[in-house]
Amino acid sequence: MHSAEIEITADGSATLFVREMDEHYHSVKGALTESNHIFRDSAFLYRADGSPMRLLEVGFGTGLNAAVTAMVADAEHPVHYISLEKYPVSTEMLRKLQYGELVNGELLDRIHAAFWNVPVEITPWFTLEKRHCDYTIDLLPEGIDVVYFDAFAPEKQPDMWTEEAFQRLVQVMNPGAVLTTYCSKGVIRRRLESLGLRVERIPGPPGGKREILRATRL
Ligand SMILES: C[S@@+](CC[C@H](N)C(=O)[O-])C[C@H]1O[C@@H](n2cnc3c(N)ncnc32)[C@H](O)[C@@H]1O
Repeated sequence: MHSAEIEITADGSATLFVREMDEHYHSVKGALTESNHIFRDSAFLYRADGSPMRLLEVGFGTGLNAAVTAMVADAEHPVHYISLEKYPVSTEMLRKLQYGELVNGELLDRIHAAFWNVPVEITPWFTLEKRHCDYTIDLLPEGIDVVYFDAFAPEKQPDMWTEEAFQRLVQVMNPGAVLTTYCSKGVIRRRLESLGLRVERIPGPPGGKREILRATRL
């Protein structure tokens, strides 16, 4: 991946901007707000029913989604969090984002320090498995209950959003599993529906996109 620059988003939290792609890692309307609303609340907490869950994140990036999820994982919401990343962000960049001031800094440090490609217990209820791999070609973990689909936008990285790629993803989702994404484009909604998912348009984060997508495997 090309080099990235720090930008401050509308809620005061930082994100990374990749100039060569003209693409941000999070919504410029609010990085932390997006992580909390689209992923933690609309997928993880929505799906949580007290039984241990397996969550798959497409695009670990800065680890912000992982950190906000780790903060709410507890005895009632235990999770094995598997996150795929092809281009890990450098330690120096992670430090510059200063996310330790927004989320539990101790948890964040453990998340960033965790070894790649092995499960690491961050707390008794949050096990993290960061996989350094390519989502489009590598084998996906099975038995998934929640998907944080946080790839770069379809117009910037279309290979992440193809029907074939979604088909592989749906195959590893358990019945009742939910996927959320910030992208609400009709073409993506129809693609998910064509694979047998029930897709809802739900309200986006405060101050952000009007709608986001939540898909459920029936
Ligand atoms: C929108 S950002 C994810 C933001 C992240 N969830 C966070 O909380 O910071 C998209 C991420 O997908 C990663 N990525 C791009 N191509 C990939 C691929 N083929 N396989 C896995 N990850 C990929 C990028 O490097 C980037 O970190």
